[in-house]
Amino acid sequence: MKPFLLALTAVLLLVACSQTETQKATTSKPAKSQVEEAKPMALMMRAIYEQSSAMRGKVEAGEALDSSFYRFMEFHELEPTDSTVLVKVFYEHNEDFKRAFEDLLKASNKDSYNAMLTQCVSCHEDFCPGPIKRINKLRFQES
Ligand code: HEC
Repeated sequence: MKPFLLALTAVLLLVACSQTETQKATTSKPAKSQVEEAKPMALMMRAIYEQSSAMRGKVEAGEALDSSFYRFMEFHELEPTDSTVLVKVFYEHNEDFKRAFEDLLKASNKDSYNAMLTQCVSCHEDFCPGPIKRINKLRFQES
């Protein structure tokens, strides 16, 4: 049971950022880092995804986003799975994303929601392509 769970964790972790997970998942001995628990940044990213999905519902219903409830999560301060992401461009993407997030809180509309997702994707293109498809599914289609 335990080796199975470890293998499953490894696969889930690989699914997170890489696009070549099947290739890597079939190597017989995964590196130690691949079988460890999800890192704090990855866990917060999951929460950010859930929050984004909840915000989508509000925007779709035409309700204002409550800025005391929807807060910017400082994920860039947390330990990532791959520490090589912590370079200047990453922090620049984070600043752009933060601005888009704040604009969304003020405007609470579909355009600003999509603009925030554009910033998620922009950072993900450089550092973590795996979830881009999932993120784009949150997008409102242009009417
Ligand atoms: C500044 C860069 C950046 C921005 C902006 C960003 N992400 Fe991420 N995201 C990352 C990195 C890096 C990881 C990998 C984290 C790790 O594995 O420790 C990640 C991981 C994820 C994951 C996978 C988590 C897992 O299960 O391992 C999801 C889902 C995700 N991000 C969604 C989003 C969404 C939704 C947004 C916007 C609302 C967003 N991200 C904005 C860089 C970013």
